[in-house]
Amino acid sequence: HALTAKNDADNLVELIPSLPVEKRLVIPSPDLQRRQYRGYWFPEWHLSALAAARDHFEPMPTDIFLVSCPKSGTTWLKSLAFATVHRDVHPPSSREHPLLHKNPHGCVRFIHAIYRQPVDVTRGILEAYPSPRIFGTHFPLSLLPERINGDGCGCRIVYICRDPKDVVVSWWWFMRTYLPNPEQVRFEEVFDLFCEGRTGAGPYWRHALEHWEESRRRPGKVLFLRYEEMLLDPQCNLRRLAEFLGCAFSEAEEKAGVLDAILELCSLDKLKKLEVNQSGNKIKDGDEPMMNHSFFRKGESGDWINHMTAEMAARLDAIVEHALQGTGFRF
Ligand code: A3P
Repeated sequence: HALTAKNDADNLVELIPSLPVEKRLVIPSPDLQRRQYRGYWFPEWHLSALAAARDHFEPMPTDIFLVSCPKSGTTWLKSLAFATVHRDVHPPSSREHPLLHKNPHGCVRFIHAIYRQPVDVTRGILEAYPSPRIFGTHFPLSLLPERINGDGCGCRIVYICRDPKDVVVSWWWFMRTYLPNPEQVRFEEVFDLFCEGRTGAGPYWRHALEHWEESRRRPGKVLFLRYEEMLLDPQCNLRRLAEFLGCAFSEAEEKAGVLDAILELCSLDKLKKLEVNQSGNKIKDGDEPMMNHSFFRKGESGDWINHMTAEMAARLDAIVEHALQGTGFRF
């Protein structure tokens, strides 16, 4: 636990320019150049935001953190958690439901996006935030302020992981949607970067392992979910999520179809077709320059087979296996 114990100690802002840098595939914008901090690669500005969060963020015991590497099912998890936790205020079948009118990333904000803003804007966002507060983050627990993950704090953490081979395919497609000429990015380039652990929040396996271990150490505070299992049995996994978050579905709710209505509302098909997710742009909310539609593609498990040679798959598998050796964790 050495990392967690010291994670507020260094002066991150001063440190950033001297950290190892990665300039390949900085898409969509050059300010996404990555730096390696305590073993993880993050866009520079995410690290500045992390520094601000360390200085200013005051967690509440009821806070919920959804932690993930990009392309692991973050958008889905945000939707499910939001719809579940706030179902009394926003019934899932309501035509006014926020998820019908806002991208999931607008309903559950990223810590890095909130703390990118000037202090007064950040304060305004947090004051208007519905309670209990749900935040998304790609920062692993070992980098987040100690106040969030210390033993004395009540915050609950949900992690989602996915087969790394599907994650790298998803990354590739995501990057391509931001380019005027998608052919500009070859799959091999993204694959190499991913294998080197240098895509955002990477190395992927290290990120997942950290949270798997944390979920074993503190099962009441850290829930570890898998994208593939959620696809296979969404009901069971949503029940687990609700129980963990302290708002289990009652028998009456299940009978009334509330759980199924949430799954339907948060399904890829439903969200993808919404006007806001076809045309919207997150930048309108003062957020990152991200296009809403770029978060929705196929949502399948095993799509890697259509993009990777057997050699590539074997190479990535070997890297992951080597990194996880002796840990007991498997994707
Ligand atoms: P694919 O590119 O494999 O289709 P993230 O949200 O972490 O950025 O991950 C994006 C991946 O999750 C994409 O995977 C996307 O299609 C999938 N996804 C987005 N919304 C989803 C949903 N509601 N249900 C299932 N998968 C979803």
